[in-house]
Amino acid sequence: MSVSGYALSDPDGQSLQGMVAIDGFPLPTFRMEPMQRGEVIKSIRSWTIRDDDILLATAPKSGTHWAHEILSMLHRGKAETISERFTLLEATTEQEFASAPSPRVLTSHLPLRLLPDNAISKIKIVLVLRNPKDLVVSKYHHMLGMRSYDYTGAFKHFLQWFLEDKLPYGSWFQYVREMEAIMDTEPDRICMVHYEDLKQNGIEQIKKIAQFLSVDADDQFCQAIYDCCSFENMAVKKLPPKDLQDKIWKPGCSFYRKGIIGDWKTHFTVAESEMFDEILAQRMTGSKLKFRFSDRS
Ligand code: A3P
Repeated sequence: MSVSGYALSDPDGQSLQGMVAIDGFPLPTFRMEPMQRGEVIKSIRSWTIRDDDILLATAPKSGTHWAHEILSMLHRGKAETISERFTLLEATTEQEFASAPSPRVLTSHLPLRLLPDNAISKIKIVLVLRNPKDLVVSKYHHMLGMRSYDYTGAFKHFLQWFLEDKLPYGSWFQYVREMEAIMDTEPDRICMVHYEDLKQNGIEQIKKIAQFLSVDADDQFCQAIYDCCSFENMAVKKLPPKDLQDKIWKPGCSFYRKGIIGDWKTHFTVAESEMFDEILAQRMTGSKLKFRFSDRS
């Protein structure tokens, strides 16, 4: 696998910086020098997985932090917010990974080919999916807000990059289809949750995850987790310390932005929405997955 620098420039001359590519696949650098981060991510395939690890698999901006918090509470058996920092597998190092106590939740946006070789064949996977229109809007604000990308471009160009698979983590379509293939072949090893269902029917979804992980969780505990993991609570309690927050994010930005279904309607034009629907239908041909784009359907 080859590692190279990666940047994008849009027709208005606005650029998106601070990325690295592995065999052309774009990734963030997570505050490391790009080539160094590329080498670390390349090495992940050989990291050692434990039988009791769980993989939380998400495409970026699908509600990863939210789901991670729910899984952590289920694991700890306590519905309380602690200051533990969430780290993606690809933002860590082998040493940090190896020294983390069991049971570990391996949270990652990486495609299967970049994950530890035995992860996919061995451990349980919780997959969180979100409708791709809200996801691309969330991703747009993420990139506008994070200092490392140094980005100020227009949504119309960003949307084009998304549809051309050029943004960090490459193709959303391919990612989702890869995960769907596991669901088809090994349905018992993967638990799929939709962001929209977590929003609207969260307690039931938490019960479903608990059952999948064989964790005892009665109605009261699931309700307590749901309340503790509300957007409002997490947006206050899960922010990093102020100095770190200011180093990573521009003022007023964070992982907790709006946390709603349907914000895409304030960003997409009608023409963009129709084009998106067409491309989605084409690229998901044969898929059984259904996405919900509104909180009313
Ligand atoms: P928005 O940008 O649409 O607000 P990720 O954790 O994968 O980066 O996803 C971030 C998205 O999930 C953001 O979406 C964020 O606001 C939303 N989010 C984070 N915590 C949430 C929660 N507790 N409830 C609902 N949405 C949440």
